[in-house]
Amino acid sequence: MNRRPGLSARLKLTISYAGFLFVAGTLLLAVMWIFVLRWVPTRSAGSIRNTFGGVIIIGPSRPELLRGFAPAAAVALAFLLVFGLLGGWILAGRMLAPLTRIADAARMASSGSLSHRIRLQGRTDEFRELADGFDTMLEQLESHVAEQQRFAANASHELRTPLAISRTLLDLARNDPTQDQGELLERLQTVNTRAIDLTEALLLLSRADRRNFTCEPVDLSLIAEEAAETLLPLAEKRRIRLDVTGQAAQTAGSAALLLRMVTNLVQNAIVHNLPIGGTVTIHTGSQDDASLLRVENTGDPLPPELLPTLTEPFQRGTERVRTDEHAGVGLGLAIVHSIVRAHDGTLDLTPRPTGGLLVTIRLPGACIDLGPDARQCAVHGRAVPHLR
Ligand SMILES: Nc1ncnc2c1ncn2[C@@H]1O[C@H](COP(=O)(O)OP(=O)(O)O)[C@@H](O)[C@H]1O
Ligand SMILES: [Mg+2]
Repeated sequence: MNRRPGLSARLKLTISYAGFLFVAGTLLLAVMWIFVLRWVPTRSAGSIRNTFGGVIIIGPSRPELLRGFAPAAAVALAFLLVFGLLGGWILAGRMLAPLTRIADAARMASSGSLSHRIRLQGRTDEFRELADGFDTMLEQLESHVAEQQRFAANASHELRTPLAISRTLLDLARNDPTQDQGELLERLQTVNTRAIDLTEALLLLSRADRRNFTCEPVDLSLIAEEAAETLLPLAEKRRIRLDVTGQAAQTAGSAALLLRMVTNLVQNAIVHNLPIGGTVTIHTGSQDDASLLRVENTGDPLPPELLPTLTEPFQRGTERVRTDEHAGVGLGLAIVHSIVRAHDGTLDLTPRPTGGLLVTIRLPGACIDLGPDARQCAVHGRAVPHLR
C-alpha cells in the first residue's frame, strides 16, 4: 500500500494532549479572571497614608491587576504547553508500544515468518485482546500452512506411485518383447484407473473445500437408499448384510456431494469390515432441528487414538487395506469431512466396543426458501442470516 506519509499516531496524540491541557488551562485562567473582575472596581478605590507617612493603595484598579496577572498567566500557559508536549510524548509512547509490537509481528508474518508470536504481557485490555487474537490467528495460519504442505507432499507421492509403476511395466515390456501383451495392458489399465480415481478424489476434495456448488433440498434417507443400492453387489460379494433403516431426513445442499459422502461411508463400512459375516447399518432421522445419518459396521477393534487422524488426507488405519482393490486412495474420510464442513454439519467417529466403527453425521435440518439465487441457501446461511 502506498500512502502519503502523515503525522505519526504518537505525534498526533502528543499534540492532542498538549492542546487539551492548554485549552483547559486557558479556560481556568479566564474563569479566574472573570471571577476576580467582579470584585475589582474599574478605578482604584483610593489610598490612605500609614502612620509612617507612606501611601497604601486600597484595592488595585483593573488595568493594574491586568498588568500583574497577564505575565503570570502567560508563564503558566507556556509551562502547561511544554508540560503537555513532554508528558504527552512519553504517555503516547507508552500507550502505543504494544501497537508497535503487533505491527512488527504483522510485518514478519507478511514476509513469510509465521512462527513469531507477540505474547503480550500484562492485564487484559484492548491491546492485549488484539495481540492475543493476532497470536491465535498466526497459530491457525501456521498449522494450516503445515497441513497444506503435508497434503501437497502426500498427494505428489501418491500420484507418483502409479506413474512409476506404469514406467516399470513399460520398461519391462520393451526389454522383454515375448511378454504377454494382454496381461501388460490389463495391469497398465488397473494402474491407470487408480491414478484417475486419485485425481478425481483430489478434485472432489478441492470442490467441496471451496463450497462451490448449487444448493437444493435433499432427503438423506433417499440418498442412503441410493448409495446402498449401488454398493449392494460389493456387500454381497463380501457376504456382508446391508440394512437401511430410519425416516426421512431433510437438509439442504448438493445432492451429488451428499451422495458421494454416504457412498464413501458405506464403502468404508463394507471394505473395513470383518472378512466374513459382517453387518452394515445405515440409519437416517432427525433430532432437534438437525438431520442425522449414522453408518455403523462390525469389524476389527480400532484403537481410539487412531480416530482423530483418519479424516486427514492419505491416513489409513492399517497397511492391510492398501492391497485391497476397493480400499480407496486414503481420501475417503477426508472427502466426507470436507463435504460435512461445507454443509455446516458435524462428523463424529466412535469405535464400537465389539469392533468396527460408528460414524454419525449431523447436518442443518430445516430447508429454507432458496430464493432467486440458489447458491444463497442454508449452507451459506451465515452469509445471509435473514434467510434463516
Ligand atoms: N467404517 C470403517 N470401519 C473401520 N475402519 C474404518 C472405517 N472407515 C474408515 N476406516 C479406517 O480409516 C482409514 C481411512 O479411511 P479412508 O479415508 O476412507 O481411506 P481408505 O478407505 O482409502 O483407506 C481406513 O484405512 C480405515 O483404516
Ligand atoms: Mg475409504
